[in-house]
Amino acid sequence: MIREAFEKHFGFAPDAAVRAPGRVNLIGEHTDYNDGFVLPVAIDFQVVMAVRPRAGRQVRLYSANFERESAFSLDNIAPDRHEKWSDYVRGVALYLLEAGFSLGGMDAAIYGDVPIGSGLSSSAALEVAAATAFERLNGFRMDGAQKAKLCQKAENAFVGMNCGIMDQFISCLGQAEHALLIDCRSLGYEQVPLDLGGYRIVIGDTGKRRGLVDSEYNARRKECEEAAAFFAGLYPRVRALRDVTYEQYAKHADSLPSTVRKRAGHVVSENERVLRAVSALREGDLGAFGRLMDESHESLRDLYEVSCPELDVMVELARAVPGVPGSRMTGAGFGGCTVSLVSAESLDHFQKEVAAAYRARTGLEPKFYVCRACDGAGPIE
Ligand code: GLA
Repeated sequence: MIREAFEKHFGFAPDAAVRAPGRVNLIGEHTDYNDGFVLPVAIDFQVVMAVRPRAGRQVRLYSANFERESAFSLDNIAPDRHEKWSDYVRGVALYLLEAGFSLGGMDAAIYGDVPIGSGLSSSAALEVAAATAFERLNGFRMDGAQKAKLCQKAENAFVGMNCGIMDQFISCLGQAEHALLIDCRSLGYEQVPLDLGGYRIVIGDTGKRRGLVDSEYNARRKECEEAAAFFAGLYPRVRALRDVTYEQYAKHADSLPSTVRKRAGHVVSENERVLRAVSALREGDLGAFGRLMDESHESLRDLYEVSCPELDVMVELARAVPGVPGSRMTGAGFGGCTVSLVSAESLDHFQKEVAAAYRARTGLEPKFYVCRACDGAGPIE
């Protein structure tokens, strides 16, 4: 379909097509920029790009979602004030050039079915798809971690959203039927088989688009840095909240201002939950996995304060359905999606019950997706 869109728009056929997935994070929220651990899954919502090299230095982009075009020269890359979606591609091109890769002109048609603004990382998918397209057309390959870092830089420095590494990393390195345990300090990672037995991962879109997210996100980052500096004063080997154990936290928490204390309490406990969740998954103990998801939500709601009424209602309703070991908000928060573990027999019931009660309580229309763990970015044959 993206090849047809390309041909229709440009009047000739594309050469190649690439894809990059969005993600859902199972556990480990707001830990990535604290050098901590996360456990995301690449999902079967993705950004696809059909591409063809063109002579010269022009890059012409066509968004099939917005039916808009944006063009730029590789010799002068600046943001496009009117076509903001193109900035993700422009930023990636800029940092590829800066990193020394040589790029030629390109025509590209882009389409994504990752819901925008619902916390499933449509922007990371677009960045990673763009990097993969440039690789494909210019005959070079980056390793996954390097590509993820470059895409993160495009988002931080070009788009201006100060995100961590998780979204780009999973979009590059996801593997079908696996969750990815990422150590966001070393960028070491492990593919963890997603053996869910009779359970499924269900994403619930609250229909509440994320608000506030940039300013609150940056505020949380600052509070975490403040907490890390406090602990570094006590324990010289602390470089980030990742290095603080729960015992150390509990011993000194009272000396911290209350907001910073809460933020640190979340991050320190969440990192431990990720590692326990991975053990639970390996042991096939989905009850324990679900309880950790529940605890994560409570911590994000009460300590990190990034949930919102819609997320809380959906999580509460999900947990009331029999056959649901755990449910939590996922992603940055302030709207977007929940993620729940649901037994296969309860799937229909779950979707009907939660949807009806959620609609009644919020007036919003929710959407549910039963998640399939997919491969990270690559060419489409
Ligand atoms: C957003 C950011 C990620 C991560 C999550 C919270 O998705 O892009 O880097 O910080 O929020 O876990």
